Amino acid sequence: MTARASDIEKAAGVLRTGGLVAFPTETVYGLGANADDPAAVARIFQAKGRPTSHPLIVHLGGAELLDDWVEDVSATARLLAERFWPGPLTLVLRRGRRVPLEATGGLETVAVRVPDHPVALALLAAFGGGVTAPSANRFGQVSPTTAYHVGAELGDAVDFVLDGGPCGVGVESTIVDVTGEIPSILRPGGVTREDLEAVLGCPLAVHSTSGVRVPGQHPSHYAPRARLVLVEPEKVVAEAELAQELGHQVGVLLPPAFTDAPVKAHAVVTLPGSPAAYARGLYGFLRELDQQGCELIVASLPAEEGLGLAIANRLRRAAGPRLTA
Ligand code: TXA
Ligand code: MG
Repeated sequence: MTARASDIEKAAGVLRTGGLVAFPTETVYGLGANADDPAAVARIFQAKGRPTSHPLIVHLGGAELLDDWVEDVSATARLLAERFWPGPLTLVLRRGRRVPLEATGGLETVAVRVPDHPVALALLAAFGGGVTAPSANRFGQVSPTTAYHVGAELGDAVDFVLDGGPCGVGVESTIVDVTGEIPSILRPGGVTREDLEAVLGCPLAVHSTSGVRVPGQHPSHYAPRARLVLVEPEKVVAEAELAQELGHQVGVLLPPAFTDAPVKAHAVVTLPGSPAAYARGLYGFLRELDQQGCELIVASLPAEEGLGLAIANRLRRAAGPRLTA
């Protein structure tokens, strides 16, 4: 889905005057501000309720702009940029002087990516600069994959919302740290580990619990309101029915292999068989079960290969201990 040219112009104008624009990317919706404007960047943290120490991604209109924003771009980083941009890959590199420390949470590195969405690319082209943008949700909540979700989460805190329809990938970008000798995955996402390894010709470590101050690393993140419980796939139905019998309003993410059995629960989402469709639907399913009033969601982890690695990462974090009651 594309946006009207007048909306793109309006959104670019909002960015130029220090405002916040929510915009679609291929992964999830972002909450954007002018990366050259520290006061605008600071407004993102307020709108999300996010601690200011948590770094943001700078979105660029093309890989050719990389050198305006970062330093020490290795051959490996160039190769990944060339191969995967525009696309759901974020590279962590050494911060260029242009990047305000507000955007990096004080770090000397910066995360950058070129999103693969016609509306995001049209906005970036019309605006001309870099756009710092986290996912357009309140801190710790499920990322938005439609413009409607953005409105429901952020309301008036955002100055303008560009609607580009539902996001095609559905989980956030893969974050790869390319500051060291050996690249490592800080967050699995829309570009698979297998795809990265095929291009690099070597195995990649997944450091998704590294000490870097990344919000995705909090115990509970990407979390629905309902408590998420993870069990073995063959135990999902029994666990859900037991909890429902005990008087809870139970939601179920039902693995496709178990669709024959009618499940006695409050709400059931039958998961699609393909990992791409599961990733695309994941956050919408969690929102849907919340909306139906579920107190508890029972689910299992998919096989941790391909997009399954990112899906399992988000489910684990959503099931993690809550920071607040
Ligand atoms: O797909 C995506 O990446 C979406 C869309 C909108 O582009 N954005 C997104 O942003 O997920 P956010 O802020 O929700 O997550 C960005 C992640 C965080 O975990 C953040 O800590 C990490 O990127 N990050 C940013 N800068 C970093 C840095 N310098 N070093 C390590 N991690 C960094
Ligand atoms: Mg986020």
